[in-house]
Amino acid sequence: PHILALHGPNLNLLGSREPGHYGPATLAEIDAEMQSRAQEWGWTLRSLQSNAEHLLIDAVQAAGTQGVSDIIINPAAFTHTSIALRDALAAVRIPFIEVHLSNIHAREPFRRHSYFSDLAQGVIAGLGADGYLLALDAIHRRRKRHNP
Ligand code: DQA
Repeated sequence: PHILALHGPNLNLLGSREPGHYGPATLAEIDAEMQSRAQEWGWTLRSLQSNAEHLLIDAVQAAGTQGVSDIIINPAAFTHTSIALRDALAAVRIPFIEVHLSNIHAREPFRRHSYFSDLAQGVIAGLGADGYLLALDAIHRRRKRHNP
């Protein structure tokens, strides 16, 4: 398994950014936790954060030719705006899990709609940084079920 973790705009500010919504963990801490979990299993995990829509799209397109097996993505504000990033995920047909730190359904109405959720294998929202590890665990459990 080769996992790609994609983090959208402003997630580089985690730790100091609206901690009431997004919690105290930095993105480096979140990535390190995912990385150590992946390493325990002998999996490859690569993380990328970008504030630029086209860099996230390029990363998804590249994943399609790099043997990435699963994507964990928090599109951040692009969740609510980016048909282009959605189309990239649809094009490569790599299964993905959508993660949000905050519960996007308990905030402003414009956060309730996601351009990703109907294509996602699953959506995790509102569980803070644990959401990323839960997504990774879900991929692990599914694989173990399929190749015990
Ligand atoms: C977010 C929720 C989005 O609405 C927001 O724009 C973000 C982060 C989350 O993780 O809760 O930047 O995706």
